Amino acid sequence: MAPPLDLQGRHIVLGLSGGIACYKAADLARELVKAGATVQVVMSDAAAQFITPLTMQALTNRPVFASQWDARPANAMAHIELSREADAILVAPASADFIAQLAQGRAGELLPLLCLARPIERCPLLVAPAMNREMWAHPATQRNVAQIAADGAVVLGPGSGEQACGETGDGRMLEPEQLRDALIAFFQPKWLAGSSVLITAGPTFEAIDPVRGITNLSSGKMGFAIARAAAEAGAEVTLVAGPVHLPTPQGVRRIDVTSAQQMFDAVLPAARRHRVFVATAAVADWRPAQFNGQKIKKDGKKVAPSFELTENPDILAAVAQLPAAERPWCVGFAAESHELARHAREKLQRKGVPLVVGNLGPATFGRDDNQLLLVDAAGERELPAADKLTLARALVREIAQRMNP
Ligand code: C5P
Repeated sequence: MAPPLDLQGRHIVLGLSGGIACYKAADLARELVKAGATVQVVMSDAAAQFITPLTMQALTNRPVFASQWDARPANAMAHIELSREADAILVAPASADFIAQLAQGRAGELLPLLCLARPIERCPLLVAPAMNREMWAHPATQRNVAQIAADGAVVLGPGSGEQACGETGDGRMLEPEQLRDALIAFFQPKWLAGSSVLITAGPTFEAIDPVRGITNLSSGKMGFAIARAAAEAGAEVTLVAGPVHLPTPQGVRRIDVTSAQQMFDAVLPAARRHRVFVATAAVADWRPAQFNGQKIKKDGKKVAPSFELTENPDILAAVAQLPAAERPWCVGFAAESHELARHAREKLQRKGVPLVVGNLGPATFGRDDNQLLLVDAAGERELPAADKLTLARALVREIAQRMNP
């Protein structure tokens, strides 16, 4: 099932000020268009030294605006017209000079003029700084950035790393996909503003010897989608992840673990500091009682080795049994192969948690979509088949509503 376009129906003014990161603005424009937005590019004179308006026009299917004297709008007031129809203005790259102009409320060129003239409550301004690390670290820039943030601009990044000048440090513009996702997150409802969410995701791996182990089938995709959705909803998010190959959602603190015991050791102290705990990890129920320090060799007699297993701690049950004052609001997952509702309700009681989310394991493992059944004391509610991020956003909303009815 194709996921919905997250920026469908949004009209974005994409501003480019001068800087080598303008080459990334072309990709950013494409990403925004692919996500469903209409994109109106506005470029400063300096930006046109780095990338042509023609390129940006071709990618957005709209002529670029570059001058406050542009006579195309019927009233000849590009700075007013452009901001009145925008759902947001995103300036990427935002140079040190552009940020200084914003901080001072200057209006000598179309781009800062447009930002100054925008209806401030209705048209948010997001800026993605891009500059050399010394320019970024300079007290003047830091002062200006603090000022524009105080005036209501949302500052995205900057990132850190290799710079076009050959130096390494803070000041790189965030990547186009990161900026796209930050804009998508910006528009999501803030169900969990001021809250904190701890999530377990992925499988665990229980070592038998240095090269073998026991694990569960789990891609971690559902848990990572919930981490992203919770962060988009304004929560502070900690994600404790078993061995998976997935990128960390933006703004999420990630702790990587391997075994169930390591996951338990990471979760228990953290649980007390979070308002919500969502256990999506497919934790191995048992681990080998002994770890063989050396690889177990075939002995040539065709006799398979046998192992004793010992039970792993139940992380969710342990968190659910914390004293009430320290206990987060707990959500369990149930991956079943049949009789979903009955098994999920059993789990609700056995684990002592207020909500269990059931899904049919074999039908969803590793896939991009899923279907959820929410089971709590009040009854059952189905979240129909959709991509995992759409479901995660719906689940986050359901959790927020149950916590604060
Ligand atoms: O115990 P069972 O595997 O049936 O329950 C599944 C739920 O409990 C999931 O939310 C899972 O993340 C959690 N769990 C856990 N620690 C375990 C086993 C399961 O947190 N050792």
